[in-house]
Amino acid sequence: MTSTVSPGSEAESLAWPAELTRVPYWVFQRQDVFRAEQEKLFRGPYWSYLCLEAEVPQAGDYRTTFVGDTPVIVVRDEDGELYGFENRCAHRGALLAFDDGGHGAKDFTCVYHAWSYSLQGDLTGVAFQDGIKGQGGMPRHFCLADHGPRKLRIASLHGLVFGSFDDDVDDIEDYLGDEVRGRIERVLGGRTPVVLGRFTQVLPNNWKLYVENVKDSYHASILHLFFTTFGINRLSQRGGIIVSESGAHHVSYSAIDGAEKDGGYSRQNLRSDSAYTLKDPSLLEGFSEVGDDITLQILSVFPGFVLQQIQNAVAVRQILPRGVASTRLNWTYLGFADDTPEQTQVRLKQSNLVGPAGFVSMEDGCVGGFVQRGIAGAATQQAVLEMGGADAASSGSRVTEASVRGFWKEYRSGMDLGTAPTPATAPQPVAARPLPGTAAAQQKEAAQ
Ligand code: FES
Ligand SMILES: [Fe+2]
Repeated sequence: MTSTVSPGSEAESLAWPAELTRVPYWVFQRQDVFRAEQEKLFRGPYWSYLCLEAEVPQAGDYRTTFVGDTPVIVVRDEDGELYGFENRCAHRGALLAFDDGGHGAKDFTCVYHAWSYSLQGDLTGVAFQDGIKGQGGMPRHFCLADHGPRKLRIASLHGLVFGSFDDDVDDIEDYLGDEVRGRIERVLGGRTPVVLGRFTQVLPNNWKLYVENVKDSYHASILHLFFTTFGINRLSQRGGIIVSESGAHHVSYSAIDGAEKDGGYSRQNLRSDSAYTLKDPSLLEGFSEVGDDITLQILSVFPGFVLQQIQNAVAVRQILPRGVASTRLNWTYLGFADDTPEQTQVRLKQSNLVGPAGFVSMEDGCVGGFVQRGIAGAATQQAVLEMGGADAASSGSRVTEASVRGFWKEYRSGMDLGTAPTPATAPQPVAARPLPGTAAAQQKEAAQ
């Protein structure tokens, strides 16, 4: 059977290049891709970050959040366990909870027709189920247990709460692997986080452009003037990246060392290597808190979680797709229960480095939009990811895009877009692989 995919057609534009070093721009632009991601990734065998245990310590405490674009509730029941389920009434679909969270919940009652649910997400009551005066009501065979919002499997690790709609997802420890787990433990292990504040930021770009940005150790000291000028992050500093075995997760880390003002940056004539000075240098005065000299650690968990330590500014970020070209980025700033008042002040001061208007991170809030706008007419063109080679392996250098390639390796596997070749394998001819369920896929099937 011969393929009927013709050059330049829609199906052709869905072709995924064989090598890991190319990413087609249509993946940031297509509504059908967005829908497939919801099903295959966010409701598939992956863990999504939901909230902190510290936000729901007591029975009846709850938070509302999202898994991809699906609204969910996380709540602690009287039995002390955490439960998660869709924030969707089983009757006609209304939200069950409207606020960001609350305390003392005994149940959830839908505002529309007052169907009620236990804190474990079970439907427990239907208003006027038996009708009134023998008339109306639900059919006799209607069984409450057959109806309810979809439930999440929940896992906690070092105070982070994750959820998955797929019961068959790997245990969270195996999902993360030893190295990434160890790096989460390095920041959060044995400590009780305290929420210092929250920001929500809407990004004018596809969620994957922000994930790329987080994993991109190459850009950090080039795009961010503050990082480079004040020596917080320069590629010449001691550091490296860890890419998990599947490529899905990553850690980038560095230590401030004596190599701060090397000649490498001036030779590149970078905008970020400026002569600015700080009027108040105390902004960068911190304290050692985890027993090593790593001053910057950025860690990501596929698909959309980030744990950040930039000096003493510790935060978690939740990346939520809102649409093809819109992303919600939730920041939660952390301190710890045993911090002194002075340490809390240091964290609050350093929190100015990050967030929507952060001295460092404000550029990340707009650069994804620059890409989204730049690729507007280029669905069939491809991004180039060759910095540091063609693989997705851990590296002692941060002048690499290995962890970005790792993201795409897992993404194409999870989205059923073909398996990437090992670096030693010569690229194979590109096969057009329309996404299952798309018009292009149906056309192709019909033609075979
Ligand atoms: S939609 Fe919730 S009770 Fe009707
Ligand atoms: Fe950045």
